[in-house]
Amino acid sequence: MEKTGCNSIRVLGIETSCDETGLAIYDGCHGLLGQVLYSQIDIHAEYGGVVPELASRDHIRKIIPLLRQLLDECGVNKTDAVAFTVGPGLSGALMVGAMFGRALAMGWGVPAVGVHHMEGHLLAPLMQGQVSFPFLALLVSGGHTQILSAQALGDYELLGESLDDAAGEAFDKVAKMLGLDYPGGPQVAARATRGRDNAFDFPRPMLDRPGLDFSFSGLKTAVRLAYEHTPDYPGRIEDLCASFQAAVVDVLVQKCIRASRMTGIRNLVIAGGVAANQSLRAQLMANPTIQTYFAPPQLCTDNGAMIAYAGYQRFVQGERMGLSVDIRPRWPLNRHEVLKGL
Ligand code: KG4
Ligand code: ZN
Repeated sequence: MEKTGCNSIRVLGIETSCDETGLAIYDGCHGLLGQVLYSQIDIHAEYGGVVPELASRDHIRKIIPLLRQLLDECGVNKTDAVAFTVGPGLSGALMVGAMFGRALAMGWGVPAVGVHHMEGHLLAPLMQGQVSFPFLALLVSGGHTQILSAQALGDYELLGESLDDAAGEAFDKVAKMLGLDYPGGPQVAARATRGRDNAFDFPRPMLDRPGLDFSFSGLKTAVRLAYEHTPDYPGRIEDLCASFQAAVVDVLVQKCIRASRMTGIRNLVIAGGVAANQSLRAQLMANPTIQTYFAPPQLCTDNGAMIAYAGYQRFVQGERMGLSVDIRPRWPLNRHEVLKGL
């Protein structure tokens, strides 16, 4: 449906920061015109995690056919700008999308916009337009667990973060420990639905301390000890998954409520791969003190649509990237001001 008072600017978004090659076109009037996504999960599964060199090579193989497919599907020859993830992520993988995107923008004679991967996640729930600034954001992915206060585009204050493993990383490591496939989050979540939340009494790390930081590595160790010391019984893996998931979700939910109390901000956006977790979604939605917003599950994990949307937002605010490609494998989101007019 066409929005009123919109502009018809179209931005291509390219995501290659890890093991997904995602491309999409966002249009200021019509929203998402189309997206294509190729996941390398099968390539990395046999190694139990992402192999950076294999990831870069596969992005190179897939990026041109995927762009052709997207342009065909959308009936578009070119866009008004090209946005691509410049960080954080795997250096080689970022380099593929950034070099390709920058060169494509030059070939098309249009501006380029470098996008912060986590800002892509953060803004994805705004694509449907139900929530606006200011809001709290819980970013939970394979590499990040952070609570931020978002005042405006590019104005983000970090309120708390994980001191060790990210929540998604804890899901992945627990899955590996229990002999489940990579990526572990969906595997653990699926088994958790058939297990008992209270079968194991796992710790709720950092809940007894003030503040909004997290820690998940002790919880992971608790799961390992329980796994090693509990004799096998039918449903043991399901119970371990359910009790582990309950502990992670409990900590995430309690910290979000605390953040809302501390800041007086009621709206909460949950983003990143772990935001696809149904138990986390259900418990946040059930809480009357906060109003929670999510992207649809397929836009929670890595994709090109969120990069196209974040790129569009920055482009219309005047952000332009120069000719040199500067990838940023490590890049805190709270240092991401809007860079105008190069
Ligand atoms: O955002 P994302 O696709 O990639 C990163 O930027 O890290 O997040 C991937 C992470 C992985 O750790 C994966 O196990 C986790 O999100 N994940 C989940 C679920 N779906 C994906 N964790 C828990 N429950 C899920 N349903
Ligand atoms: Zn991500």
